[in-house]
Amino acid sequence: MYLIPQLFIIVLAFISFEHEAIITYAQSYTSVVAPVHKHVDAAKPLYSVQITTFPVNVQDPRENFLIDIDAPLIWHECIVQWNMHPGSCPSNTRCTSSVSCEEYECTHVRTSYTYKNPSCPPETNISTTMPGNWIYCTCPVNVVNPVTGSCGQAFLNYDEFYLNTRDGRNVFTGLSGAFPNAACAPSSSFASFPANVTGVMGFSSSSYALPFNMYYLVRNTFAICLPSKPSSTGVLFFGPGPYYLLPQSNVDVRSYLSYTPLLKHPDSFGYYINVNSIVIKKRSIEIPTNTATKLSTIDPYTTLRTDIYNRIIRRFSMVTKRLRPAKPVAPFNLCYNTSTTGLKVPDIDFSLPDGKKWTLSTTNSIKQVTSEVACLAFVDGGATIEPPIVIGTFQFEDNFLEFDLENSTLGFSSSLLRKQTSCANFNFTLIKSPL
Ligand SMILES: *[C@@H]1O[C@H](CO)[C@@H](O)[C@H](O)[C@H]1NC(C)=O
Ligand SMILES: *[C@@H]1O[C@H](CO)[C@@H](O)[C@H](O)[C@H]1NC(C)=O
Ligand SMILES: *[C@@H]1O[C@H](CO)[C@@H](O)[C@H](O)[C@H]1NC(C)=O
Ligand SMILES: *[C@@H]1O[C@H](CO)[C@@H](O)[C@H](O)[C@H]1NC(C)=O
Ligand SMILES: *[C@@H]1O[C@H](CO)[C@@H](O)[C@H](O)[C@H]1NC(C)=O
Repeated sequence: MYLIPQLFIIVLAFISFEHEAIITYAQSYTSVVAPVHKHVDAAKPLYSVQITTFPVNVQDPRENFLIDIDAPLIWHECIVQWNMHPGSCPSNTRCTSSVSCEEYECTHVRTSYTYKNPSCPPETNISTTMPGNWIYCTCPVNVVNPVTGSCGQAFLNYDEFYLNTRDGRNVFTGLSGAFPNAACAPSSSFASFPANVTGVMGFSSSSYALPFNMYYLVRNTFAICLPSKPSSTGVLFFGPGPYYLLPQSNVDVRSYLSYTPLLKHPDSFGYYINVNSIVIKKRSIEIPTNTATKLSTIDPYTTLRTDIYNRIIRRFSMVTKRLRPAKPVAPFNLCYNTSTTGLKVPDIDFSLPDGKKWTLSTTNSIKQVTSEVACLAFVDGGATIEPPIVIGTFQFEDNFLEFDLENSTLGFSSSLLRKQTSCANFNFTLIKSPL
């Protein structure tokens, strides 16, 4: 049983996007929800979540953020200001209050929560002289672009993010806020991003990522369900279940989940699990012990160290030798000719501790590259990559993943398609908040 929090939480209810928001008080709720989209117009497939930001001088306060479960910090297209007086914010711009270099948060983020990357320059203070000779000094922080891997500069701010509230089955018009320090970067930082995506939303275990800042929900848990098509809408939840997907409107998705421990990693705020072996048609490919497997929402395909990759390719080509091969299409090495028939291949099982298994069926193992060619969607990461296995997003599509940060467990469903539902089946119909 969950305790219903006796807190009343400030909820912003937008009367209309063009007009100013009013603040109301709503009954408590157990969780919040946001829509997720797939983008195929950047260098690699990426996924965004739509979250409402503070509507200063922008027509639509909703903003699309790349989902990054590894990012230590949230950053997006905005500017920092010292005095947020009426008229100070340029039109069509998100303006937020600056964190000064002298404030505790600046040192805290710079020393503990900033992106670690050898290409990042040292962080310096930037001073600005204001009318009346007031000297303000902003707090620049390094941010690493998850699309290009390059380092950029952003300015630490006081930010606000709002998500729709829910009670398990319905989505309410009321919004619930989180108020972390985030960072503002110029629009040029997002040039390599998919169209209309202007930020990075951190879902890591960092105290500056979104989950930690949703602390007032009854449980520090979030769940991600990535859609397989750009035209479908997937879903992201914060707070505990139940979770319902159509058409089985009375089946809690948690009944499909198996659980495995989330591991801590000294150099990362991201999420790791133990994979003991990879099993293909009863034959096990053992994974060296003491190697953690990383989960990534930025890597499009599961990436394996060469020794593991080669053994998987050998085994998989053996069990699919009756299928017609095709010339490999980069970055893949094992491809099939699908000009006459669709492809059905054996499952690939990630064997986890305590006898749990995460099953990849054909939809999560084989990527249709062209109308005639489909490939095993695993990538060779080289002989020395660390960690040796990174599970990427193609393997997550239409899988339900619940990250419980309190109990450090990952709940995973394997393909929802085998349960006659998908990540595109959440009912986003808004109903009026029960005030
Ligand atoms: C930035 O300013 C703060 C406060 O004045 C100071 O403590 C810190 O050493 C400065 N950092 C750098 C890199 O100059
Ligand atoms: C980006 O947003 C604009 C304005 O909302 C819209 O017209 C356009 O179709 C969007 N582009 C994409 C690729 O989503
Ligand atoms: C697939 O097979 C068909 C029929 O054998 C052939 O015409 C076609 O060129 C092949 N396509 C590829 C990409 O190998
Ligand atoms: C979390 O862990 C505690 C202690 O092990 C257990 O009693 C509880 O049921 C767990 N909660 C969930 C939601 O798994
Ligand atoms: C979606 O939710 C709304 C509001 O609760 C409900 O009226 C509608 O029937 C639901 N749609 C489906 C397909 O169940």
